[in-house]
Amino acid sequence: MADHNAKHVPDLLRSRTVALIGLMGAGKTTVGRRLADALVLPFIDADEEIEAAAGCSISDIFERHGEAEFRRGETLVMERLLHGTPHILATGGGVFMNPETRALIKSQAISVWLRADLDLLMKRVSRRNTRPLLQTGDPRQTMARLMKERYPTYGKADIIIDSVESAHDVVVRAIITALTKYYEERKS
Ligand code: S3P
Repeated sequence: MADHNAKHVPDLLRSRTVALIGLMGAGKTTVGRRLADALVLPFIDADEEIEAAAGCSISDIFERHGEAEFRRGETLVMERLLHGTPHILATGGGVFMNPETRALIKSQAISVWLRADLDLLMKRVSRRNTRPLLQTGDPRQTMARLMKERYPTYGKADIIIDSVESAHDVVVRAIITALTKYYEERKS
C-alpha cells in the first residue's frame, strides 16, 4: 500500500508527530512502520532509541538498574524525540502514564491509542519474552492488571483505534481516516 511519493499525502497529515500509545502487544511498532510508510514520514521506535542510548537491551536496563532508572531514561528520550521533526513514534507501553510526558505528547504530537483486548495482547506478547514487566508467574494476570490501571489514562489519547486481529493495513487505514477527520474538525 506504500506510495513513496509524499506529494500524494496531504501536507496536513504530515505536519505533526503521531505518537502511538497502548499496551505491549498492541501493535505499535508493526502498525507504526506501515503508517510511516503510508504517510512518507520517518518511523521511530522509542524502545529502540532507549536501547541505543543505554547501549543495552531494555531487559538489561531493568535487570541492572531497575524500573525507576529505565523510566528516567525513557522520559529523556521521549523529550528529545517529541521536540524533533514530525515522525511516526511508537512509544513504550508505560510512556503515556507519566503525566509530564503525556502533557508533552499532547502539546507536540497527536496521540493514537491502539486499543486491544486481553486475548490479542497475550497472543502477541507470548511470541517473545523481551518484556521485563511480563516476567511474572502469571503474565496474563499481570497484563489484565495493567489494562485496568492504564486504560482509563490511555483513553485520554486524541484518537482511539481498535487494534483488531485483521491485517495491519486495515488498522493503518483506520488511523489515516481518523487523523484526516481529526485535522478537518480542527480546521473549521
Ligand atoms: C513497557 C513496555 C515496553 C517497554 C518496557 C516497559 C510498559 O514497550 O518500554 O518493557 O511499561 O508497558 P512496548 O509497549 O513497546 O512493548
